[in-house]
Amino acid sequence: MIRREHPADRPAILGVVRAAFRQDDTEPVEVGLTEKLFTDGYVPELSLLAVVDGTIVGYVIGSRGVNFGVGIGPLAVLPEFQGTGVGTALMYALIGASEAVDIPVLALLGDPGYYSRFGFRAGSDVGVESPDPAWGHFFQALQLSAGPVNGSFRYAKPFDELE
Ligand SMILES: CC(C)(COP(=O)(O)OP(=O)(O)OC[C@H]1O[C@@H](n2cnc3c(N)ncnc32)[C@H](O)[C@@H]1OP(=O)(O)O)[C@@H](O)C(=O)NCCC(=O)NCCS
Repeated sequence: MIRREHPADRPAILGVVRAAFRQDDTEPVEVGLTEKLFTDGYVPELSLLAVVDGTIVGYVIGSRGVNFGVGIGPLAVLPEFQGTGVGTALMYALIGASEAVDIPVLALLGDPGYYSRFGFRAGSDVGVESPDPAWGHFFQALQLSAGPVNGSFRYAKPFDELE
């Protein structure tokens, strides 16, 4: 099941983000980023979690761009549930929820091999310029029914504080 997050879910959500992004013994930056987004920029309708047998196994968050649109991420699935369709379900739910609340455009930084299946294209191909040209085709955007909106995208402030 995909449902909206409630504040009581946050410790479990941060656990999912930590497990998904962990590479060594250090805390992944995505954990602190998610916590900051809860207080600065997140869109409650686009803070969605996936539940399997009562356990939170995946999470995705959308946050308001400074100038327009919504930035997506982190998207995280517990390692033992990866490759079972949870990330796909979260992304389709997020796109549907974004349509429902008239978000005009979604933007993200990620692997085109994964996100192209949801309709995301290189930002420059759909009129959404990257905050950092060095990101190249990894910066992607999806225009929704309330769009198109064109311009230079800027993520919510907590993204600026990433190392
Ligand atoms: C990336 C992630 C969210 C995908 O979620 P998931 O539930 O594992 O993915 P799904 O089961 O819905 O989809 C699996 C498909 O995506 C593909 N896929 C998964 N990660 C991919 C990646 N990084 N690049 C390209 N394809 C990827 C798989 O090969 C599989 O393809 P198939 O359907 O053709 O067999 C998840 O693996 C994860 O949490 N990874 C660690 C954190 C991360 O990298 N988050 C994304 C940051 S942009």
